[in-house]
Amino acid sequence: MRIGILGSGLMGGKLGTLFAKAGHEVVFSYARSRSKLEALAREAGPRARAGTPREAVQDADALLFSVHWNRVDDVLRQAGDLSRKVVVTCSLPMDDDDTSLIVGHTASGAEVLARKAAGARVVSAFGTVPSEVLTSVFEAREGEARPSLVYCGDDDDAKDVAAQLIRDVGFDPVDAGPLQVARYLEPFTLLIAKLAYEGHDGPTLAYRFEHFEQRA
Ligand SMILES: NC(=O)c1ccc[n+]([C@@H]2O[C@H](COP(=O)([O-])OP(=O)(O)OC[C@H]3O[C@@H](n4cnc5c(N)ncnc54)[C@H](OP(=O)(O)O)[C@@H]3O)[C@@H](O)[C@H]2O)c1
Repeated sequence: MRIGILGSGLMGGKLGTLFAKAGHEVVFSYARSRSKLEALAREAGPRARAGTPREAVQDADALLFSVHWNRVDDVLRQAGDLSRKVVVTCSLPMDDDDTSLIVGHTASGAEVLARKAAGARVVSAFGTVPSEVLTSVFEAREGEARPSLVYCGDDDDAKDVAAQLIRDVGFDPVDAGPLQVARYLEPFTLLIAKLAYEGHDGPTLAYRFEHFEQRA
């Protein structure tokens, strides 16, 4: 797949690198310096390059939307027309201090993004794990017990694309339903962040859902 990264920070930088290592063509875009994007592309290998948001969108089969909530309008403006594009978002609707969600209950960041990015096929994924765990999950992908990763969206084809990317990074994709479910998924992320950054075992944390046989 050709994947455009809109926001090449902790999440976009790591996920873009892993997508490239998994065999995808990746364009890193949207950072404060071009040299950072070029360094990321160099480190990610021959399938990766640096570009502008518009170049990242052009010909992309999927986009990773990975910017702080206060950059959403700017990156959308620079990205141009996203209609029919698969947009996988890990962006959380956090306030400027990163302390609380500023959208919730009756909407979610993913739904607001879908309204702003008119016509885009938005899937919420990857936002429920800390960036620090991504490389470890990728390295462990041949193991038996993959961690889960929940995702949701309204377009089945876009969800298939997201599920493939989730698998490529080393997670077991868990389809949580329509995009509206991001209203639960986004606050769940705050629990994960609490455990990752304030717990005893550090931020290399992922989660796994298990089903058990029903007993009387
Ligand atoms: N970090 C996590 O573990 C984590 C986990 C789950 C969800 N999320 C969510 O994922 C999203 C991205 O988080 P992140 O931690 O990856 O953020 P980040 O490291 O701050 O990355 C954001 C990217 O946006 C770029 N950027 C910021 N302001 C810019 C500007 N004025 N012009 C051009 N580029 C600019 C940054 O550039 P520079 O590279 O130059 O700084 C960076 O590449 C957020 O919505 C966050 O809530 C993060």
